[in-house]
Amino acid sequence: QNFCQTLKLFLFLIDVSRRPAWDLKIDQALLQVHNELVNENLTVYWLSDYCYQCLYQELISVPMNSIGTGPVDSQHAVTLIVNGSNSKQICRIHYHFGEFGNYSLMVKNLHNNILQFSCNIIINQNPFNSNLRMLLCASHYQEIKSDLLLIHSIELIRNWLYKKMNPRETDRLINSMCFMICFPLRRLALIIMVFVNYGGGKYWFFKHQSWNGLTVADLVFPWFVFIMGTSISLSLSSMLRRGCSKWKLLGKILWRSLLLFLIGVIIVNPNYCLGPLSWENLRIPGVLQRLSCTYFVVAVLELLFAKPVPDNSTLEIPCPALRDILPYWPQWLFMMALETVWLCLTFLLNVPGCPNGYLGPGGIGDFGNYPNCTGGAAAYIDHVLLGEKHIYQHPSSNVLYQTTVAFDPEGILGTINSVIMAFLGLQAGKILLFYKDQHRQIMLRFCIWSVVMGVISAVLTECSKDEGFIPVNKNLWSISYVTTLSSFGFVLLLLIYYLVDVKKVWSGSPFFFPGMNSILIYVGHEIFENYFPFKWKMQDAQSHSEHLAQNLIATSLWVFISYVLYRKRIFWKI
Ligand SMILES: *[C@@H]1O[C@H](CO)[C@@H](O)[C@H](O)[C@H]1NC(C)=O
Ligand SMILES: *[C@@H]1O[C@H](CO)[C@@H](O)[C@H](O)[C@H]1NC(C)=O
Repeated sequence: QNFCQTLKLFLFLIDVSRRPAWDLKIDQALLQVHNELVNENLTVYWLSDYCYQCLYQELISVPMNSIGTGPVDSQHAVTLIVNGSNSKQICRIHYHFGEFGNYSLMVKNLHNNILQFSCNIIINQNPFNSNLRMLLCASHYQEIKSDLLLIHSIELIRNWLYKKMNPRETDRLINSMCFMICFPLRRLALIIMVFVNYGGGKYWFFKHQSWNGLTVADLVFPWFVFIMGTSISLSLSSMLRRGCSKWKLLGKILWRSLLLFLIGVIIVNPNYCLGPLSWENLRIPGVLQRLSCTYFVVAVLELLFAKPVPDNSTLEIPCPALRDILPYWPQWLFMMALETVWLCLTFLLNVPGCPNGYLGPGGIGDFGNYPNCTGGAAAYIDHVLLGEKHIYQHPSSNVLYQTTVAFDPEGILGTINSVIMAFLGLQAGKILLFYKDQHRQIMLRFCIWSVVMGVISAVLTECSKDEGFIPVNKNLWSISYVTTLSSFGFVLLLLIYYLVDVKKVWSGSPFFFPGMNSILIYVGHEIFENYFPFKWKMQDAQSHSEHLAQNLIATSLWVFISYVLYRKRIFWKI
């Protein structure tokens, strides 16, 4: 019944969003340029506000005394430059067009003086407010999910109580910690990830940032990595307590990493769209591959130095403020060394044809000076070690910055920083273990870590999106991206810890089911991406609401599938 209601609502939304007849794409508006000058042929150039240090691109040419029509970007505000016959600038306008609006740009002489011009934008037809519909949809979706999940959260609490009856106290503590703190975050991240990967309704804030900066889509993957670190700490500690030998654990870690890597390369390879998988165009790096490498490095390092029984109270630390760092100095030293490698390679490696330490997007960015330098050293290392054909072909920079070279957002160099991210997550796990039930201490520590990471990010980015020493960048996994996201990560963990463990007001239920089968959901949603009912041929491929409907239904289906699997006790764990 609920499903029918939703469907009806979506159909209604699709109906409302009828667009003008002109062949506009998503996030475009129509611009008519009226050239009323009698002695000038006009050329209109445009530049998006989001394109940092970009070259102006030609939009429309309009001969004297006529009208030209063309589509213009409505995602962000743009600057238009109108040039006359011999490239002399006639005027310059900054304007935010609305999606599917119809606008006219009137260029005239002022007071019949042929040396003075006026440029005005007139709205012929109002744009659609697609963001408003988006909000409406989101609230409705939330309602339905809470209905369905209320029933099951009760069941969960029952299960949880049943677990509590078992006398194995320490194990229970560790398990419930992981159960209640790591998993909600992981589940949340997974659901957002599925939604975002399906296109997020093609809204810009659900798409990855073109180059520097953050959108919702850029938050998800690092949280996964962060929470993976926390899980490593909790699960290794629990297994060592149970008396697993280190060799056996090492074998387990190796096997899991290998499996994850192979699943990533063979099952979820984006280059399937180029035809059957063959060695020639196999993409080697990827999301699962990066998780696999990160897991391997961090878990092995932790295993090397982990003590079976952390002697918490007996240990006398000279400076209690550094309690989180000093006992683990070998690991910290290793991480510092890794980060030094990242910094040196990024800033000192000689990349042919590009300036040293180039962090920009190339293409039309940086005034078109380095069109083939997308990603600088990171890209160069991947090209040399893996080859151009074995990396990702469509980086998020290729629309806005019009880049042409291949660049892999999950490349080799960035993996160093994802290891650092997981290590910070592991640190959070150690805090949880060490202070056990001392709520105040745990929350204080999380708070301090978050502030420290925030300050480091502020210094590195100079609090600016594009102009800092090292901008926040998802494509490069720059170190400022890692510190910023781990700062968020500590806050999130603090919040979840507060809600779940201190106040006990939430059991993490809405996101429970996918979390139990995360690998299956990830792999499944990638494989069946283009199949009904996750995707269908759209009535109107250029409407946000139809994309949104499709992506929400696909995401809900995966939540439902994971619920069914959970009920049937089918789990695929590696
Ligand atoms: C846009 O507005 C102009 C002026 O009102 C009109 O002539 C034109 O047909 C409109 N275009 C579309 C596609 O609606
Ligand atoms: C960039 O690469 C393209 C295609 O490989 C090439 O045609 C162009 O000359 C290169 N540009 C520069 C500045 O090296």
